[in-house]
Amino acid sequence: MAVGEAFLSAFLQVLFDRLASRDFIDLLRYRKFDDLLEKLKITLLTVTALLNDAEEKQFHSPAVEKWLHMAKDALYDAEDILDELATETLRCKLEADSKAGPNQVWNWNLISTPCNTPSSRGIESKLKKVIDKLELIVNYKDVLGLKDNIGGCSSGLKQRLPTTSLVDETCVYGRGHDKDLIIEMLLRDAPSNKIGVVPIVGMAGIGKTTLAQIVYNDDRVKNHFHLIIWVCVSDQFDVVEVTKTILRSITLKDTDLNDLILLQVCLKENLVGKRFLLVLDDVWNKRNNDCDLLWSPLKTGAKGSKILVTTRNRDVASSMGTVPAHHLRCLSFEDCWLLFKSQAFENRNIDVYPNLEAIGSKVVEKCEGLPLAAKRLGILLRSRQEEDEWKDILNRKIWDLPDDESDVLQSLRLSYHHLPAHLKQCFAYCSIFPMDYEFDKETLVLLWMAEGFVQQPKGKKRLEEVGGEYFLELVSRSFFQESINYRSRYVMHGLIRDLSHFVSGEFCFRLGDKLKDGNQNRIFEKARHSSLL
Ligand SMILES: Nc1ncnc2c1ncn2[C@@H]1O[C@H](COP(=O)(O)OP(=O)(O)OP(=O)(O)O)[C@@H](O)[C@H]1O
Ligand SMILES: [Mg+2]
Repeated sequence: MAVGEAFLSAFLQVLFDRLASRDFIDLLRYRKFDDLLEKLKITLLTVTALLNDAEEKQFHSPAVEKWLHMAKDALYDAEDILDELATETLRCKLEADSKAGPNQVWNWNLISTPCNTPSSRGIESKLKKVIDKLELIVNYKDVLGLKDNIGGCSSGLKQRLPTTSLVDETCVYGRGHDKDLIIEMLLRDAPSNKIGVVPIVGMAGIGKTTLAQIVYNDDRVKNHFHLIIWVCVSDQFDVVEVTKTILRSITLKDTDLNDLILLQVCLKENLVGKRFLLVLDDVWNKRNNDCDLLWSPLKTGAKGSKILVTTRNRDVASSMGTVPAHHLRCLSFEDCWLLFKSQAFENRNIDVYPNLEAIGSKVVEKCEGLPLAAKRLGILLRSRQEEDEWKDILNRKIWDLPDDESDVLQSLRLSYHHLPAHLKQCFAYCSIFPMDYEFDKETLVLLWMAEGFVQQPKGKKRLEEVGGEYFLELVSRSFFQESINYRSRYVMHGLIRDLSHFVSGEFCFRLGDKLKDGNQNRIFEKARHSSLL
């Protein structure tokens, strides 16, 4: 999967497949549309090349966000025209069939409706219009500074800073129970010589790294292990780099070695007979080969050595873990409030601002227990004194905050950015469901299928199975969580749902939401997916 595949690339792929289908080619040759369609194809390719960059920049630039919406709109129009053409194709085919009689070979030349029928003339002019529109959109790329990069890596996303083991535990709220459970698993006697791997899993910003940090710094842990090592892995799991970092933190020296075998020999020598705890923070990928390579020198450590892994991805957790993963839950309202208060009222006496306290408590409700959001919004409000400023933040969607402030949830945004294109489409579609909606996997998969989001399986798999895999992949990446109320139902965290709103823009809408916003007329125009739920 190319990291950061644009949301529309899955959609565009469907358009390209259509343009390449046999029936289309035949019909178009006959109807002399081929020049126009060639032009459409080239324009679509140019738009595709700009999409990745636009997808990333939209979070910072309202102009790019608008551009992206215009591009989406034009692409949807192109899809509609191809739909019309497909219907025409079918009609012509049926007509030709009836003319040819039962035993004759089917022949396009038998079609009686030539290319100047009213319907085909209509399609032709629509086609020209949409090409003009797309060309106009492409022309804006220089003004907006959009770069061509098909399937390329991020350019507009800030690099995440590596994490460290340092933490001020007095600023950590409500993780006592989780901490004890993890420590108990780490100190537990190992049944075999195999290194135990304890995974902590949860959505972006829920506090996995923070939990690992307080575990790492606990005296029980420090006293039990001879060596404790912290490695921030992040999205690039590079075995050589990880091995080097481990070595560096044991020897407290840089190494000139770059050869993996030499590094591993060196690491083995340093680990012999030592019971170690290795924290691998923020693991994204589950390339088993890399893990095997990393694990092999670690086996020299003494019995009882452990690895603590933090990850957003359940698949990574289950493939690496030797025990069931610890699923980190959101903070309680009370803990979330304490966290928010510590940031927003850092140098202020809260009693002096009863009005701000009341608004702040509503801001915390919006965070739905996500410490990242509570902390970032607290910091954002720290420098604001006026009630109106606080109300403004309360009433805005986090994703609509201007520029730097919209970076509040950068790590949530990264989760979306790392989705493959077909999952981005499915995820954005979920914005048509109401807040707190309890999703049923089968129903959602059927809806995705009806919308054409599920790619036709190549082998014997059924479409439903492929859709089911999409869903589980989104669960695995913490976009959905199991519902507490109903078994086998799933919910979406409010901020994740807001993100789906942001990325789907005006193309998906829920009547209830729009009526609340009071600008439903404008919205209906562009909407492609809707619900009355
Ligand atoms: N229990 C807590 N008390 C106070 N602050 C917390 C708590 N948990 C998390 N935070 C703060 O919230 C922010 C996000 O936490 P953290 O980095 O641990 O999340 P994460 O789950 O590791 O996110 P990611 O998936 O992006 O790595 C950090 O600034 C952290 O200091
Ligand atoms: Mg983390």
